[in-house]
Amino acid sequence: MTVSTKKITVVGAGNVGETTAHIAALRNLGDIVLIDIVKGLAEGKALDIAQSGGVYPFDGRITGTTDWSQTAGSDIVIITSGVPRKPGMSRDDLLAINAKIVKSVTEQIVQYSPRAYIVVVCNPLDVMVYVAGKISGFAKNRVMGMAGALDSARFACFIAQELNVSIADVRGILLGGHGDDMVPLPRYTSVAGVPLPELMDAATIQRRVDRARSGGIEIVNLLGYSAYYAPAAGAVRMAEAILHDQKAILSCCAWCDKQYNIGGAYVGVPVILGSGGVEKIVELKLTAEEQQLLDASVGHVKALVKKVDEMI
Ligand code: NAI
Ligand code: 2OP
Repeated sequence: MTVSTKKITVVGAGNVGETTAHIAALRNLGDIVLIDIVKGLAEGKALDIAQSGGVYPFDGRITGTTDWSQTAGSDIVIITSGVPRKPGMSRDDLLAINAKIVKSVTEQIVQYSPRAYIVVVCNPLDVMVYVAGKISGFAKNRVMGMAGALDSARFACFIAQELNVSIADVRGILLGGHGDDMVPLPRYTSVAGVPLPELMDAATIQRRVDRARSGGIEIVNLLGYSAYYAPAAGAVRMAEAILHDQKAILSCCAWCDKQYNIGGAYVGVPVILGSGGVEKIVELKLTAEEQQLLDASVGHVKALVKKVDEMI
């Protein structure tokens, strides 16, 4: 087993945060600090996770705290501290409350971990990444958001179930904001190297695309609260790609300017993630229809950014 000395802070010890900390521990990403504002919460969950190591061992130490000084010198900070939506709410309804939380958390990151990479998970995702980017003033390659890893995993799950194949064989790419107008790309989705349109008719693909787009609300409606296993897995996947310098191609929310004609916004695109954070945006040729869908999604994100700019 490789012993890593990297330090990962997970902000928020709620559903996504605790699961992120647990998966990161099991993946041996390094020492983990779980921090929350509720006294006892992060401490209790960290203790429980640490004790699980007596059954399935891992190398890193896990600490729970309410004290930001314990996060000092983190290599990566994953921000999950935010209010999740309830049935009947859209991600956008969380804008004002989560912008305030992400702003204050980012100020702490700047103070205690000025060299960290920031991975935002809070919703509305793309706008919260903008808040973290603006408040931190960090270079654009160091600030990113987790959504594409989740949304493409959802798409992959539905494709695998439909075709009755291993989910490990399904690789997909997704563009745009983390909202109902996200843009899964079936043309760039493959099953063991075979392009998806060779294996599935257009109507079935479209049903899977629609289900991936509403994958978040499907779970909110079933549970009464928001998903966390797959979101946490997505966040850990990003951290792992950076900490292990994997040069992994993953869909992430990253700063784009000329790429895809986005013109300056944090939105979901395929990127190469490695020890330099977002090392490169992978540019794919889009059809006119795909570009139109992306433009609409980016327009939505930019409109919300305008609103949040007046709040922070
Ligand atoms: P949760 O309510 O279970 O946990 C949030 C935690 O953050 C709570 O324990 C709360 O005490 C803590 N918190 C609030 N303010 C804080 C602060 N200033 N400092 C430290 N901790 C603070 O919520 P859950 O389900 O974990 O979701 C967290 C966020 O992630 C939500 O905004 C949700 O919408 C978002 N989300 C995003 C996904 C994505 O794909 N990007 C997927 C799933 C959730
Ligand atoms: C999700 O897609 C709520 O954004 C969260 O599950």
